Amino acid sequence: MSVAVVGGAGYIGAHVVDVLRARGEHVLVVDDLSTGDADRVPGLPLTRIDVTDPTQVAPLATAFRQHEVDAVVHLAARKRVDESVAHPTRYLRDNVAGLANVLDAATAADARTVVLSSTAAVYGTPDAAGAPVDESTPPRPENPYGTSKLACEWLLEAHARAHGVAATSLRYFNVAGAARPVLADRGTSNLVPIVLDRLRADRAVEVFGGGLTTRDGTPVRDYVHVVDVAEAHVVALDALRSGRDVPAVVNLGTGEGSTVLEVVRAVARVLGVEPRVDVVARRAGDPVSVVADVTLAGTALGWRARLRLEDIAADAVRCDAGLTPELTDSSR
Ligand code: WQD
Repeated sequence: MSVAVVGGAGYIGAHVVDVLRARGEHVLVVDDLSTGDADRVPGLPLTRIDVTDPTQVAPLATAFRQHEVDAVVHLAARKRVDESVAHPTRYLRDNVAGLANVLDAATAADARTVVLSSTAAVYGTPDAAGAPVDESTPPRPENPYGTSKLACEWLLEAHARAHGVAATSLRYFNVAGAARPVLADRGTSNLVPIVLDRLRADRAVEVFGGGLTTRDGTPVRDYVHVVDVAEAHVVALDALRSGRDVPAVVNLGTGEGSTVLEVVRAVARVLGVEPRVDVVARRAGDPVSVVADVTLAGTALGWRARLRLEDIAADAVRCDAGLTPELTDSSR
């Protein structure tokens, strides 16, 4: 038995691979290396395939069979919100086709367990008052990226029903931090790496929106450590493989919100610098507050995030400096 991690050379995928390897699983990495990096997964079998290409379904099924893949974690997708707004067809086509092709290959190879990488972006703006959002909240994505992931969730549910596949979609909130320098999030538009770059360069951090109805006026998100997120995949795989009932969608967050200013301060504290911020206009389509209700992850999977914003900031800074974080947190 082995697990195929599609998109396994990406930031989150490589952390999933890491956790799987640490507990002795055989892992096949599938990645076209368009945004992924083979350096993140040294010494592992790597099948370089563009999963959006339908002619690659048969070669992918062959690779699955060769490696005796019984379970697939699918993370390969386009994930830039701004790009999705500019190119909706690209996002809908590529993200849905990628999943469809991987499911066809998995079925052909008789791999019957699937975990899908999904996102809090399916909720859009869940609640103006900032109450935590649970999985029963009707999804209302506000950008094509979120729409594409919702379509993927629905495709997976229909496929699972039709083919007796055990499957779940994990809705990540704001994933950040890293386990080792090589695995870190690079070339991204996400807040934590941006804050790091700015503070290191002694430049002000642009804060998208002030005067909001949050505790310090800046937007609130649920920042969850990538190692916790990776571990959730392994827990979900175990539950699915052992035939337990797993909900179709599960939120992965901490249940606690942090404002942009709190993130800036947390990173600045670790760097030992005094942060400068420029509050600028709100980014189009940015919700005021998105925080996960994580009850279901606890009851259905027995998973909860163990790390918090301080750990994310500390690990992101250390990895950025080329140092491997000391795993001294008592909860690890
Ligand atoms: C976080 C907060 C910004 C940059 C989206 C998707 C999600 C996931 C991550 C893919 C927001 C503020 C940011 C900056 C700022 N997608 N910000 N200054 O928008 O919450 O989530 O990207 O993998 O599914 O929905 O994440 O990191 O871009 O922003 O003030 O320079 O930081 O306004 O409040 P977001 P983000």
